[in-house]
Amino acid sequence: MPTARFYLAINPTTIFIIGHQKPATSLIFAPHQFIQSLMIETVKSVIHNFNAGPSVLPKEVFEEASEAILDFNHTGLSILEIGHRTNLFEPVMAEARSLVKELMQLDDDHEVLFLHGGATTQFMQVPMNLLNENELASYTDTGTWASKAIKEAKLFGHVEVAGSTKETNYTSIPKNLAVSPTAAYLHITTNETIAGTQWKKIPYDCGVPLVADMSSDILSRVLDFNKFDIIYAGAQKNMGAAGVNLVVINKNILGKVNRTIPSILDYRNHIKEGSMMNTPPVFAVYVAMLTLRWLKKEGGVAAIEKLNNAKAALLYQTLDSLPIFKPVVAKEDRSYMNVVFVMDDPALEKEFLERCKQEGMIGVKGHRSVGGFRASLYNALKLESVIALTDLMKDFANKKG
Ligand SMILES: Cc1ncc(COP(=O)(O)O)c(C=O)c1O
Repeated sequence: MPTARFYLAINPTTIFIIGHQKPATSLIFAPHQFIQSLMIETVKSVIHNFNAGPSVLPKEVFEEASEAILDFNHTGLSILEIGHRTNLFEPVMAEARSLVKELMQLDDDHEVLFLHGGATTQFMQVPMNLLNENELASYTDTGTWASKAIKEAKLFGHVEVAGSTKETNYTSIPKNLAVSPTAAYLHITTNETIAGTQWKKIPYDCGVPLVADMSSDILSRVLDFNKFDIIYAGAQKNMGAAGVNLVVINKNILGKVNRTIPSILDYRNHIKEGSMMNTPPVFAVYVAMLTLRWLKKEGGVAAIEKLNNAKAALLYQTLDSLPIFKPVVAKEDRSYMNVVFVMDDPALEKEFLERCKQEGMIGVKGHRSVGGFRASLYNALKLESVIALTDLMKDFANKKG
């Protein structure tokens, strides 16, 4: 039988088969390297991405976004080279904003903005717009992200902590909040990405305007979104690529502070300008719009919530049934987005992590402040990925238990 000979070219991320012609000698591979490279390709195609963010997005979003970089809407232009105040981009912004309104069933008082700066900018932009220097804002302290929000709010006014679980290492959500009726607002972090906790019962009846950082569970479950006065979320988990923030605002809450707000940080200006006060992060907004379109096609928030519940139930049930793994969060407060667990033996943890790597599972290592493991189950993660992880856990426990 004649031997087929292929030549391969490689760059740091991709291996190409470039045919039967002999290329420059530095690019030639030996046959065993060819087989190895094919194996790399195979592993690549079954990657299960449990990253905490930026994280997995639907494949069709990647495909459409790549196409738009080369040829946006058959214009012959890249989306990266079109003006934002054109009839090419304006419909993208309009559709992204209107999809958020539709998916969250927002009323006319709630405005939708796509802003720069990551959720971290909102830690200061919220108090700058809502809290006078001599006033009080109420915050819940549920972990790393809530603490950062509290720190920034203190730059603008007084802060009370209405509930905290710091003393128990943030392994639960505070109950029985003590919110001052005079507080300008109550701030909660609906899902603590690092601690792995999630508010299941939202304090809608707190008696003051409600503000939420929803960065890691935005559009993952049905909530009464109109009962929030501000919702903000970095896009890079459930909603698209890094580089843009979703901010939903009840416009009636604005205009009550007496400080001078720099124009670019004043929500009222962004509302007035239709979220186009300056050049928006065009590509990140486009990816968010594609992801929102995908979510609508999948059946919307209620449908994705069902799938998210099924994924989380499978993973938590598996964890609870295998004594080798220990979920760290109180059962009723477990996050359905970020599942945090540990093992008693650090050597076994290392071994398990290695097995995950071999089986194409990435992003399972826990955050450095908690240790152990964290599997993030965002909207675009398929049930098959959770099945693969739980099968691996069962096999590992069988062998080691
Ligand atoms: C709950 C939460 N809030 C805020 C942030 C900060 O987001 P950004 O990096 O977009 O500023 C994160 C990042 O992971 C987060 O998980």
